[in-house]
Amino acid sequence: MASGRSDRTGVKHLAVLASGNGTNLQAIMDAIEAGRLPQVRISVVVSNRKAAYALKRAEAHGIPTLYHPLRPYRQAGRSREEYDADLARMLGHYPVDLVVMAGWMHVFTMTFLKHYSGRVLNIHPALPGAFPGTHAIERAYEAFQRGEITHTGVMVHRVPDEGVDEGPVVLQERVPIYPNDTLADLEARIHAVEHALYVRAIALALG
Ligand code: GRF
Repeated sequence: MASGRSDRTGVKHLAVLASGNGTNLQAIMDAIEAGRLPQVRISVVVSNRKAAYALKRAEAHGIPTLYHPLRPYRQAGRSREEYDADLARMLGHYPVDLVVMAGWMHVFTMTFLKHYSGRVLNIHPALPGAFPGTHAIERAYEAFQRGEITHTGVMVHRVPDEGVDEGPVVLQERVPIYPNDTLADLEARIHAVEHALYVRAIALALG
């Protein structure tokens, strides 16, 4: 089923892509199991890192996993487009209404995105336009210490093209920073907001 959409039962399927710990994946799986995302299933979880704890979380919930590393492509002199084309081909074996990037550390080329036009979501631990790229929480924390910002936030956006952490916003939420916060305090507050926001954004995006 190439880039397949929802089946006749009305069930909608997610492919979740995660490179790391997978707490957002966990929040989505928990929401599904608690009935907070009715008629939604995760058909596959993909990681580019073999050691990603996200894969263990998926296995614990009986969800199929795929491991798709970039390094062998680089070593063989093969391009990102070839990596992305192969990923799209692999996902084509699963029903997928929405591709959910949950801490996926690669930027997609159009070679992948053209298969899922308007159907790719990403979460970023900052507000639209703020701190794109990695270490967004640390950079916001440091900017607060310098008096440059009073708050940060979380956004979920669609991924229309190769831009990093930008695209039409589905949901966003402000997150306060307090003077006595440690970086760990701010990280915990942001992750808690992420987990709730992503579930709501997926429901919205699936319409
Ligand atoms: C989250 O902060 C997400 O916003 C960012 O990567 C992190 C992934 O965390 N894109 P986890 O793997 O879901 O715990």
